[in-house]
Amino acid sequence: MIRMDSVTKRYPDGTVAVDRLSLEIPDRAITVLVGPSGCGKTTTLRMINRMVEPSAGTILLDGEDIQRQPVTTLRRSMGYVIQNAGLFQHRTIVDNIATVPRMLGWGRQRARARAVELMERVGLDAGLAKRYPYQLSGGQQQRVGVARALAADPPVLLMDEPFSAVDPVVRKGLQDELLRLQDELGKTIVFVTHDIDEAVKIGTKVAVLRAGGRLAQFAPPAELLSDPADAFVEDFLGADRGIRRLSLFSSRSLELTTDPVIPLDATAEQIGAPDTPHLLVTDAEGRPLGWSERRELTAGDIRPGRLLPYGRPFVPGTDSLRAALDCAVLSPTGWAVAVDADGRVTGVVSQQAIGAAIRAAHAERRAEAEVEVAP
Ligand SMILES: Nc1ncnc2c1ncn2[C@@H]1O[C@H](COP(=O)(O)OP(=O)(O)O)[C@@H](O)[C@H]1O
Ligand SMILES: [Mg+2]
Repeated sequence: MIRMDSVTKRYPDGTVAVDRLSLEIPDRAITVLVGPSGCGKTTTLRMINRMVEPSAGTILLDGEDIQRQPVTTLRRSMGYVIQNAGLFQHRTIVDNIATVPRMLGWGRQRARARAVELMERVGLDAGLAKRYPYQLSGGQQQRVGVARALAADPPVLLMDEPFSAVDPVVRKGLQDELLRLQDELGKTIVFVTHDIDEAVKIGTKVAVLRAGGRLAQFAPPAELLSDPADAFVEDFLGADRGIRRLSLFSSRSLELTTDPVIPLDATAEQIGAPDTPHLLVTDAEGRPLGWSERRELTAGDIRPGRLLPYGRPFVPGTDSLRAALDCAVLSPTGWAVAVDADGRVTGVVSQQAIGAAIRAAHAERRAEAEVEVAP
């Protein structure tokens, strides 16, 4: 575990970048440092691998003061990933990834084999091994940066806004990939971002910093969103923190119904049976085609082109209550469509039912919190 005890960094020009920061960074979890630009995130991260030396306070790694450890030993135990990946432009991808193992004296063969193995781990095609960084997309370069940091299998990974320079879609992919990788590897990760959505998505615990390098709150994302410590944190979380919090609740608990779901070749009886005004029509494979009012439907003559769009479906269990609510809000009928991984309809759920599930999830969280504080 990494423990920071009242750590302060005052730069020579008098700027206090970090002010008496105390943090217990849990093992094998992702701890996120988040806050506005200039609040001391990078400085904090760099003090952990001694690229910056603190002015006061101590940092312990597994109970030992990092000041007492040789810098080289310390850095070997910590992979470091930065924005834009910071790759060596004149080296191939495989040699970039093999950098640290080579420095540690591994033979060329073994280092390259390790690099190729890591490329696969981070979702890079082995065919890219001989390319140079400029021949890769931003997202691919960022994956190389992660692979390089993991090459010598360090227990700790320090990541400074690693995904900030790529577009939102690629960014989401990289975040998902990091979570998947972390499930496999179980590193102790300290991750810096200025993006609160990213912090909430990937953090096991989130430290919110404010100007002057002071800690505003250190809590799991759910607690941050339900109980912001003060007005600064509340403001930083944004006006839609209630909606955002729903992303932490699974949609698994939603009760789906297949009553209003009918096939394209539905009989007059099937069209007449459901007691809802709107029916969802599916194709022969069970994939959604669209909604219709019952009175618009004639057995044997249902035309897909005349159906109302069903919005974006959600996958129960995989998607959050936020995604399910979004589907219902986007749907012209107010009903969200649930599908399986293959896109086949597993049922539908109304806005009201989602609202009830949200209230139940909140009540359950509150009950859990009460159990935790009880002696
Ligand atoms: N080498 C330095 N010398 C003087 N001031 C610095 C130096 N590096 C950073 N700072 C200042 O320290 C503060 C925190 O910087 P930084 O840790 O980079 O913040 P963040 O990563 O949160 O944007 C800022 O006010 C910045 O201008
Ligand atoms: Mg920074």
